[in-house]
Amino acid sequence: MLILAIESSCDDTGAAVVRDDGAVLSDVVQSQIALHTPYGGVIPELASRDHLKNASHVVRDALSRAGIALTDVDAIAVTNRPGLVGALLVGVQIAKGVAWAARKPLVGVDHLVGHLLAVFLRREGDAAVEAPSFPYVCLLASGGHTAIYRVDAPDAAQIVELGATRDDAAGEAFDKVAKLLGLGYPGGPVIDRLAAQGDASKFAWKTPMAQRGSLEFSFSGLKSQIARHVEEHGIPSDANTLANICASFQRVATSVLARKLIDAAVQEGVDHVVLAGGVAANRELRARVTELAEKHRKKAFLPGLASCTDNAAMIGYAGAIRAKAGEFASWDLVATSATELARQTRKGRGKR
Ligand code: KG4
Ligand code: ZN
Repeated sequence: MLILAIESSCDDTGAAVVRDDGAVLSDVVQSQIALHTPYGGVIPELASRDHLKNASHVVRDALSRAGIALTDVDAIAVTNRPGLVGALLVGVQIAKGVAWAARKPLVGVDHLVGHLLAVFLRREGDAAVEAPSFPYVCLLASGGHTAIYRVDAPDAAQIVELGATRDDAAGEAFDKVAKLLGLGYPGGPVIDRLAAQGDASKFAWKTPMAQRGSLEFSFSGLKSQIARHVEEHGIPSDANTLANICASFQRVATSVLARKLIDAAVQEGVDHVVLAGGVAANRELRARVTELAEKHRKKAFLPGLASCTDNAAMIGYAGAIRAKAGEFASWDLVATSATELARQTRKGRGKR
């Protein structure tokens, strides 16, 4: 089965062609980083307009790089939740148009499920790596979400959240700290690079939600400690101090993420641990998870960097699973923001 997938939930316009066994035939990502950089974060209105400008050529590129025609695909998958609602709407409307014109079925995909299954993607040139087996626990750490999930099977009903952040997402903390230090947007990759040259022991930030037993996170206090330091001392003018702040912040953030992922695996009695989301590209986090997993006799599965950050291939794979189960969307498929999803969950709880 071949799926054409479209992703536009935040600031990346993506389209991909994916086979139902996880083989990625093409994966095109048009990043909007340059557009949002002057503002230090994503501006929703600009994101929607840029998706609209780029989506059709990104889709055409994905088909031509895969060497196939639209008539060859079996279904069109699209991220319809959660995300910036205006940004999601562009992808959903393009997907409906393509599906209608090509008379192909449509599949709505939850962006988070896409991330949680990205570990099954196989790209050309990837070493022949094993995939995890179910059940596994997965840390999803991105710019908008940070939570640990137990994944019993590749469908949303079999995925349970074990703990999440109470405030900022981990990626948001990297982005905010980078902004405080005048390092630009997005902060993760630049902090990762500078941290490698710094000494993490030079600053002792307090670790939020450090207590064992809880799988919840909190990152806003960590960011505030650095904000206070910058208020008192200014942005360091020497490269060493700057690198030391990056290294010490990254040490605290990645240690708590890695430790709680392994705690979750121990608590659940599960042998396989998986990383997902943009922060999973962080070198220290990857090293720490690998090291802790070995220590606790768990096996760590770390997707390649292109599968960690936002991409349409992961939406295609999650879409293939839904398509195989016959879970197609109707023409009134809607785009749902994170806020709306949270409101629906609260309402559902209230009814019980
Ligand atoms: O998954 P993603 O591409 O988009 C969202 O769904 O949010 O994640 C983007 C986030 C940004 O906050 C970015 O700073 C962070 O992932 N990120 C990193 C690294 N690369 C990207 N954080 C830490 N270290 C990295 N190497
Ligand atoms: Zn994402």
